[in-house]
Amino acid sequence: MIIRPAKNSDCEHLAIMHVNYFPSSTISNFGINFVKILYENFVKSNENFLFVAEEGSEILAFISGSIDLSTFQKKFIKKNFFIVLISLLPKIFDWRLVLQAVEVLFYGQKTTQIKLPKAEMTSLVVEEKHQRKGLGTKLFMEAVDWFKRNEINEFRFAVGKNLIDAQKFYEHLGCEKMLILERAKNKKSLIYVYKF
Ligand SMILES: CC(C)(COP(=O)(O)OP(=O)(O)OC[C@H]1O[C@@H](n2cnc3c(N)ncnc32)[C@H](O)[C@@H]1OP(=O)(O)O)[C@@H](O)C(=O)NCCC(=O)NCCS
Repeated sequence: MIIRPAKNSDCEHLAIMHVNYFPSSTISNFGINFVKILYENFVKSNENFLFVAEEGSEILAFISGSIDLSTFQKKFIKKNFFIVLISLLPKIFDWRLVLQAVEVLFYGQKTTQIKLPKAEMTSLVVEEKHQRKGLGTKLFMEAVDWFKRNEINEFRFAVGKNLIDAQKFYEHLGCEKMLILERAKNKKSLIYVYKF
């Protein structure tokens, strides 16, 4: 098994994994093509990372993150305005989805009482048949090393309130639960911080 930076050619597969594992996330609601383009922009950017764990030609897991997600999202929308618009067009009349998208975009700025790090881990997925073999921990530590190389010593991430196993995993790694965020009605997330 090797861990390597993702390539453009991995992004469709990673988008499918993302949508399969997080079907109710706001980003998944915009469709596989949208998520694929988003991950292609992660690959291109020095301020983000996207690593895959691979055995032979099989992708077993991936992790992504950003030095400053909110700035990246704004740049992404500006740079890919028409692609974003086309992806969002069929959903534009779903006001709940539009509200969710706004919530996601601004959640870092909304939670001002508790100061959260700008750096963020955005996704971590280990394929079901490869879970509980230490892969999630290895990728998490790869992300920590990447942040360290970029002179960052803490990052945040959101975990769906219903993802109890993931919460156990992060708490096992020593992550601290900071707050519960209601991103949209019935869509609660726990915001964790990891310091190193
Ligand atoms: C959460 C996830 C990333 C964990 O990855 P993993 O490779 O299975 O985790 P590891 O094998 O490194 O586990 C390390 C430790 O975390 C804890 N842990 C991991 N999964 C757990 C689970 N399902 N239940 C309880 N504890 C768990 C255990 O203490 C485990 O050590 P142990 O196996 O020796 O008991 C993986 O299950 C996953 O991708 N799930 C689906 C997507 C997801 O929920 N992602 C996170 C959302 S932000």
